[in-house]
Amino acid sequence: MPERKFMMAVLDDQWRGRNVLKMPETIDIGILLLRRPRLTDIDAIFEYGSDQQVSYYADWKRLTDKTSLESRLISRDEAWMDGTEYNWVITEKVNDTAIGGLSCTIQDGKAEIGYLLNRKYWNRGYTTDVVKKVIGILVNDACVKSVWATCDKDNAGSIRVLEKSGMKREKLLKKFRVRPNISEKPRDAYLYIYRAV
Ligand SMILES: CC(C)(COP(=O)(O)OP(=O)(O)OC[C@H]1O[C@@H](n2cnc3c(N)ncnc32)[C@H](O)[C@@H]1OP(=O)(O)O)[C@@H](O)C(=O)NCCC(=O)NCCS
Repeated sequence: MPERKFMMAVLDDQWRGRNVLKMPETIDIGILLLRRPRLTDIDAIFEYGSDQQVSYYADWKRLTDKTSLESRLISRDEAWMDGTEYNWVITEKVNDTAIGGLSCTIQDGKAEIGYLLNRKYWNRGYTTDVVKKVIGILVNDACVKSVWATCDKDNAGSIRVLEKSGMKREKLLKKFRVRPNISEKPRDAYLYIYRAV
């Protein structure tokens, strides 16, 4: 009963009644809507998570089957309730299908973001619109002082998104992270930061 397990996580948190920062569950961005993932998104998430190009620079192994996705979505639901990590899927309002995702963790007034998008939708400005909107919410509503992201130093599309979103390259991080779909050796990455004025 996967949907039931998912609901249990939601209800359980309400009973615990903890005081955590609540980010908006939906974010309206013109033709796009960010919303919390559902178990019914598994096929759509698998489509981009198993794509060789989408997962190329990821710090996780390309998905090869859907079996781990249910537990991943349940743990994301729990992380949302704990306030440890917020995950949204990116959807086109017209059909509500998950075409990508954005994650965010907030600690000590600093937020880290990460994102990915189904390759069919690349180069339409979608991710830049999403990142700009989320930075605005983090800085203006959640009162974070800075928003940061890292990306592989060869990930030209992501670098462009970060720069178009107003983030500044602050540092080259040598041997920062393993990208297991490329090699087992840690690779250099850039640190980008948006600082609230
Ligand atoms: C990075 C990613 C999210 C970008 O999404 P997107 O919606 O296509 O991004 P946008 O359309 O807002 O902007 C992409 C920009 O990168 C540019 N770009 C894309 N590929 C490029 C490449 N190989 N070299 C140079 N520029 C590139 C586009 O031309 C565009 O810039 P422009 O508007 O100046 O023309 C998407 O490519 C993706 O999912 N990649 C795989 C996952 C990933 O790398 N995530 C980031 C981890 S840090």
